[in-house]
Amino acid sequence: MSIRTFPEGFLWGAATAAYQIEGAWNEDGKGESIWDRFVRRKYNVLNNDTGDVACDHYHLMPQDVALMKELGMQTYRFSLSWPRILPQGRGAVNEKGLDFYDRLVDNLLAAKILPNATLNHWDFPQAFQDIGGWLNRDSIDWFTDYARVVFDKLGDRVPMWSTHNEPWVIAFRGNAMGTHAPGLCDYSKAYQTAHHLLISHGKTVELFRQDGYKGQIGIVLNLGHFEPGSERESDRAACQRAYEENVALFLDPLFLGRYPEMLFDWIGPHAPQVEGGDFTSINQPIDFLGVNYYTTEVISYALEGGLLKASRVPVSSPGLGHTEMGWGIHPAGLTAVLLNVKEKYGNPTMYITENGCGYKEVPDEKDFVSDWNRVNFLRVHFLAAQDAIQAGVNLRGYYVWSLMDNFEWAKGYGPRFGIVRINYETMSRTPKQSAHWYREVIAQNGVVE
Ligand code: FCB
Repeated sequence: MSIRTFPEGFLWGAATAAYQIEGAWNEDGKGESIWDRFVRRKYNVLNNDTGDVACDHYHLMPQDVALMKELGMQTYRFSLSWPRILPQGRGAVNEKGLDFYDRLVDNLLAAKILPNATLNHWDFPQAFQDIGGWLNRDSIDWFTDYARVVFDKLGDRVPMWSTHNEPWVIAFRGNAMGTHAPGLCDYSKAYQTAHHLLISHGKTVELFRQDGYKGQIGIVLNLGHFEPGSERESDRAACQRAYEENVALFLDPLFLGRYPEMLFDWIGPHAPQVEGGDFTSINQPIDFLGVNYYTTEVISYALEGGLLKASRVPVSSPGLGHTEMGWGIHPAGLTAVLLNVKEKYGNPTMYITENGCGYKEVPDEKDFVSDWNRVNFLRVHFLAAQDAIQAGVNLRGYYVWSLMDNFEWAKGYGPRFGIVRINYETMSRTPKQSAHWYREVIAQNGVVE
């Protein structure tokens, strides 16, 4: 039995997002978000679940921070709800809403947990959706104005910022697949949304630097790994299209200042409107790239495979099975994703900002969950990250998704992703086996092989 240790100073933590845990959807002056609207339309979410109450973190926050401390967390990644702070998206600040995050940050610092804040984890103001949402080019200014409000209040104490979480998901699930808010099905809208998200990111980074805020700033992308179904030209090309839509569509403009060529030839009329100077705005130096890794997929050419003409089959390593989301479990994909970024984009500083697994779980009479499947999932992924570090990847930390069970978007409360169990009737929090195991990993800064 040997321990594989991580570099000194490697940061271990867990992540959540505002809409998934806070609840209090219309309290203390909070405005409506597109998710508040989306969940009210019947059948949009499994069992018609909503985030109205979620984990009630808005009220239980001090207790949750105390729990993080007990679990040995060194850092905590959370997001801020834009309409909680600016109920109409802009204009008058809702001080009570902003105060909630102020208290959260102070509680974290008092517990010696490093705050890592994401500005946009999907709960966009409905008031802006009503006037075009991210399709409206003014969204770039809406976002930077919101960022300034937040930086002015919390910038002196938050050392790590991300602009957007998973712009691919916002753009494509929300505007092309219709499975997330705002629930539209139009590829042109997806590409235009992606473009405006990227510019708003770049403009926010620029503002952060120009106005001299302290700390580091980056963006969080969902980077999957893709393998072609065969060596046939048609399969390899389909795989390249899937890779470019999910990965290069974001990394190329962020790091290289251009869009991927093959994809843009393919999508033709769906390409976004780009104005002069846009790529300069997007291509700002960032302090870190946040990587969310969940899946590896085999991509094959498929006539009925939508715009990309591609089919996707999840990949699992032998013996590892699938999670409740139907996702495969393939840790080698994580190593491959990190190496790809290292090789193509100049080895930026990276953090795993999300990785984890969702299961249906049955607790014992004390609400304890023996989630050895999650322990094993995390263990093999930590080792895969370590492989990447050994190969020279500049990886500085790891956030497990998620600190606690929560509202899993369109899947509602079905799959549980937490290392802490939430009892949604009593709102009690019970660390699972994985939380106890993770505390040991953090304490020794290493994983048993
Ligand atoms: C990611 C999201 C996160 C959570 C996990 C399971 O795509 O960023 O909010 O839903 O998936």
